[in-house]
Amino acid sequence: MKTSAIKLFSGQYGHLIGGEWVGGSSGNTIAITNPATAEHLANIQAGDPEDIDRAVTSADRAFAKWSRTHPMERQEVLRGIAQKIIARLQDYARMETLDNGKPITDSAGFDMPGTAAVYDYFSTLPLHMRGDVTDFPDAISLAHREALGVCAAIVPWNIPMYCTALKVAPALAAGNTVVLKPAESTCLSILELFKDCQDIIPPGVVNIVTGYGPEVGEALVAHPKVRKVSFTGSRPTARKIMQYASRNIIPQTMELGGKSANIICADADLDAAAEGVVMSTVFNKGEVCISGSRTFVHKSIEDAFLEKLTNLIKCVRQGDPLDPHTQLGPQATQLQFDKIVSYLELGPTEGASLLTGGNKAHIAGFEKGLFIEPTVFANVKNDMRIAQEEIFGPVSCVLRWENDDEVIGLANASPYGLGGGVWTKDLSRAHRFARNMQTGTVWVNRFYNFVPGQPLGGYKESGFGRENSYETLYHYTQSKAVIINLNEGPLGLYQ
Ligand code: NAI
Ligand code: MG
Repeated sequence: MKTSAIKLFSGQYGHLIGGEWVGGSSGNTIAITNPATAEHLANIQAGDPEDIDRAVTSADRAFAKWSRTHPMERQEVLRGIAQKIIARLQDYARMETLDNGKPITDSAGFDMPGTAAVYDYFSTLPLHMRGDVTDFPDAISLAHREALGVCAAIVPWNIPMYCTALKVAPALAAGNTVVLKPAESTCLSILELFKDCQDIIPPGVVNIVTGYGPEVGEALVAHPKVRKVSFTGSRPTARKIMQYASRNIIPQTMELGGKSANIICADADLDAAAEGVVMSTVFNKGEVCISGSRTFVHKSIEDAFLEKLTNLIKCVRQGDPLDPHTQLGPQATQLQFDKIVSYLELGPTEGASLLTGGNKAHIAGFEKGLFIEPTVFANVKNDMRIAQEEIFGPVSCVLRWENDDEVIGLANASPYGLGGGVWTKDLSRAHRFARNMQTGTVWVNRFYNFVPGQPLGGYKESGFGRENSYETLYHYTQSKAVIINLNEGPLGLYQ
């Protein structure tokens, strides 16, 4: 593993500012480690407000030209980024796995192809970004869509490359420039990708400043030349960012996690549903904003379902994330690991029954790895903290329900509203549930069924704005009305 890491990463990374890799003004760095082994991978810059000012100034300079490029030029750049990812897909997948701990089967099977698909999808939009025309007897009203300017993008550590694409791709498609702040714990794949793309992205169009959130976040979001902020992460951090954004009254897009309900009806295909619940529990180690972390099982099938679920989750292969057979890797950071462990301890004290897992996992050869056993809690009540708070780990909480209105009420009794699932063969019930669930996405009979162009975003405290879709362009543009008078000469009002 050591040799592969050395080949994939440089020892030290700079910020990307104006097309150059530069040191931070403080000279401080942050060590990046592999969560499977605690092995040191590289150092990144610990940015500060001065670095942010340089990056925003460079993005602002690049905006004048980039915002006036031919749409096909932007199309070509975005398609080029997708092609760079596909050309080195296995390398990027390994980087993401070394940096974040996600199994290589997740990074090569979802993160990298998914990221390339996002750039590809947005590459098709510049030519379709249309304004509007309304005709009047004496006038023509045009509504142009114009880019905003410098966009701040702040992304988390759980799905680094994909979350970055969800912000950079629409920003560039619409003609904006970007200053990106990746998470301090996982950003090597992102830095490597934009190093790879230096020959296709004009200097200053994408700038990256690494560092700790509080130290660079406020300087970035409150910078007078930043015209928009897009954030994915936790609610407490979102509240701070919204305050910074209030300084210069800039628009925001917020994607803030969830506690999504996955509802199993009595007529569901129980094998498919059990597989869906296991997948939504262990995929990416459960560190997924939209994971189905509350499973609602109909009372009449509860015993049969729990048996299938427990048997199947015990088959999940946990171990070396670089091994293509591994399905569950280590948690991304020590902080996240400790947080999950605290919920494993909390569950039984709240009265939940532990069916399997519940402990740190010990993997031979990975004694320093941040592994947690896949865990199922049953007899969970919706007002328990384990059912209300985001655990963000491989932990499934199973709740019981009896009638349709009750389960919709329980599903909606959450401050969050990001994802959801319904498992039934009854088409009307599926639509009725989907319509009544207060959530941004509902999957019927397959969880994590991502398709290109599907709007992704939250209801309630899961945030606002939608990523990954045509309407995302509205968040990265503003309209300008131009009204053309068709009659020449004065009106003759003041004669
Ligand atoms: P966080 O929200 O603090 O971090 C996300 C990003 O925000 C990182 O890039 C971080 O550096 C940045 N950040 C932190 N403080 C900032 C500030 N004051 N100004 C600007 N940027 C700032 O999330 P954290 O603390 O790493 O994770 C805590 C919990 O949040 C997780 O356990 C999980 O429950 C949730 N979470 C949800 C995510 C989602 O996909 N919606 C992603 C990551 C975490
Ligand atoms: Mg944090």
